[in-house]
Amino acid sequence: MALEQHINPKVRYQQQVDNSEQYVLPFIEASTKIGAQTKVLEVGTAEGGVLKPFLDRKAFCVGVDLNDVRIVLAKENLADELSRGQVVLQTKNIYDEDFRTKYSGFFDVIILKDVIEHVPDQESFIPYLATLLAPGGQIFFGFPPWYMPFGGHQQICEGKWTSKLPWYHILPKGLYRRVLKMAGESEGIIKELTEIWDTQISIERFERIVRRSQLEILHKQAYLINPIYKYKFGLKPRKQWKPLLWLPFFRNFVTTCVYYSIGVRK
Ligand SMILES: C[S@@+](CC[C@H](N)C(=O)[O-])C[C@H]1O[C@@H](n2cnc3c(N)ncnc32)[C@H](O)[C@@H]1O
Repeated sequence: MALEQHINPKVRYQQQVDNSEQYVLPFIEASTKIGAQTKVLEVGTAEGGVLKPFLDRKAFCVGVDLNDVRIVLAKENLADELSRGQVVLQTKNIYDEDFRTKYSGFFDVIILKDVIEHVPDQESFIPYLATLLAPGGQIFFGFPPWYMPFGGHQQICEGKWTSKLPWYHILPKGLYRRVLKMAGESEGIIKELTEIWDTQISIERFERIVRRSQLEILHKQAYLINPIYKYKFGLKPRKQWKPLLWLPFFRNFVTTCVYYSIGVRK
């Protein structure tokens, strides 16, 4: 069953703003102080709410998304900043030659919040992001590990039980698709969920890609209760219990979200 934020973009925008102000920005500021001198890129900016607290601190921001409808909404939400030239919002693939040329080595902070699990070939994508970083810059990632109860994003389903049942996304792909189809889910939703099935980003795989890309983890935080759930469901965010994080693989099942800040290895 669709939640309010799935149907109302204003609610979604405000949730992005609040979560960014209270959790994402403070996490990023542990390594990079945000101010007028800071240049920020958000990949998968959607309605633009994550960027708002960075804009309020006078940073220059670029927000890109593959979804044109969401960029139109972002332009409405950030109209003042847009008219001042403080933000650029584009429907854009960051692999495009013009983007690569213009922004190579440019950004102090790159943000991917709830985006990396949608991106194919993360082994090439993550090192490519690093080429857009200025010296000493950082990339922020926030994502739900694949094996967490709703790691398949099945909460976006329209059916009553398909949106509420945990863990069935880890079924083999063909079977998962069949279950979704039999439950009456639309082709659009089945396609999106299958794309996420294909990427399957776990804590271990993410950290392996970082290590192999000559990058290093600057900070990390795992959550038992994802901070965004405070705004979506009224739940109190909870950091993960540290000893659980020593248990590779199992930790993915009980960690609803991880935040990472990544830099180029010195
Ligand atoms: C779950 S939303 C997250 C939006 C926002 N960052 C937030 O935290 O609320 C994922 C967004 O990433 C976008 N996206 C996925 N892959 C992308 C890519 N390769 N480049 C740019 N945007 C992408 C989607 O269109 C979608 O708007």
